[in-house]
Amino acid sequence: MSDRRNFIKKSAFTVAGSLLTGVSASGKESHFFNSKNTQEEDAFWKVIRKQFPLTYERTYLNNGTIGPSPYPVLEAVRSKMEELNALGEYYGQEDSRKPLADFINAPVHEISLTHNTTEGVNIIAAGLPLKRGDEVIMTSHEHAGNALPWLNQKKLKGFEIRVFTPAGTADETLNLINDLLNDRTRVIAIPHITCTTGHVLPVQQIADMAHEKGIWVFYDGAHAAGSIALNVKEIGCDFYASCGHKWLLGPSGTGFLYVNEEMFDVVQAGFIGAYSDTGWEISEERQTLSGYVPDAHRYDYGTQSAALSNGLKTAVEFMNEIGMSRVEQYSKSLATRLRNNLANLDGGLEILTPEEEMSRSTMVAFRLTDMPYRDFGKLASENKFRIRLVPESKLNAIRISTHIYNNKNEIDRFTALVEKAIKG
Ligand SMILES: Cc1ncc(COP(=O)(O)O)c(C=O)c1O
Repeated sequence: MSDRRNFIKKSAFTVAGSLLTGVSASGKESHFFNSKNTQEEDAFWKVIRKQFPLTYERTYLNNGTIGPSPYPVLEAVRSKMEELNALGEYYGQEDSRKPLADFINAPVHEISLTHNTTEGVNIIAAGLPLKRGDEVIMTSHEHAGNALPWLNQKKLKGFEIRVFTPAGTADETLNLINDLLNDRTRVIAIPHITCTTGHVLPVQQIADMAHEKGIWVFYDGAHAAGSIALNVKEIGCDFYASCGHKWLLGPSGTGFLYVNEEMFDVVQAGFIGAYSDTGWEISEERQTLSGYVPDAHRYDYGTQSAALSNGLKTAVEFMNEIGMSRVEQYSKSLATRLRNNLANLDGGLEILTPEEEMSRSTMVAFRLTDMPYRDFGKLASENKFRIRLVPESKLNAIRISTHIYNNKNEIDRFTALVEKAIKG
């Protein structure tokens, strides 16, 4: 049996206890976890890297698009699939709901299990009672996943969308939003972290400002769950959508939507089915739906994948075991290292990600002065780096994502490639 299969078996064995114990380099996890020593810290992250089947043939710097799962997550999906198929059963699809709720500090009845971020956006955009004359505020840096559901509802219902471009600092951004608010504004529907430049918007302050004026707040959190410690109650938004397949390193086809309980009867459940209702009948005498369950489960329904749910639950446990503040600190330190490296290159490029500490996290975007972004993309690919190009908002930029399986050496090698591209 190959090492890899051995490893999977070992990881599976440890899922019930510690997800990481099977691979500790020194056997002293707690020491590793609390280490202040750089060498030990580096050793710890090497241990983490070994948990990923992610190839060493190229350097992966594109977690913002898709987060490669570690072995325990893959094993959780596989083993649940095998277990259920051995029995011909279908239990377990609920298993990720509570861990996810705890992970973002929401009560479980405020969590709907979706299949991706976009589904959560659609539920809110379609479910809110918006009409002609209303206004929705968005950014000029949206991903299609947030842009299209709102544009579609604008087309169907005739409301207006008003747009701002996030500014370099949180204060300036708040002012830009404030300038757009008026008595027709009904919703602010923006990303927590932009997909274009990794710009972290001042979500708590925006929610406070909006709520003072009775405006609803929806955040597209595709880039926040699993990259920063998330607390939706502290943020204070009404709705929050995200996915399992990016920074949470979970399976594709998983996601969640947080809906504050006060909004259950405001957001109409457009699609419902088994588990959404409190009773129904279709007979020759009666055709009734008695109502919706008194929780966010009203927005999801029918048979879902228990295997994926188990994978997502395991992804959350994996993150919790490392500790989200440590995940955030490490991943951001790599992005900061890259940002500093690029800033020290002495020209030849423009960094698009804000400098302000609170406005950036684990992605850095930049463009070269003298090389079209697609040419750099080709060069990066030839040199075995997987990066993301950013044509959105006509930025024509390059985006780098850093996560827990990356390291300083990869960042420095990538910087050297940028330097080579600039110097020709
Ligand atoms: C900011 C943002 N929102 C939404 C999405 C769409 O996410 P999903 O594929 O989970 O629907 C993405 C995907 O990259 C994104 O970056």
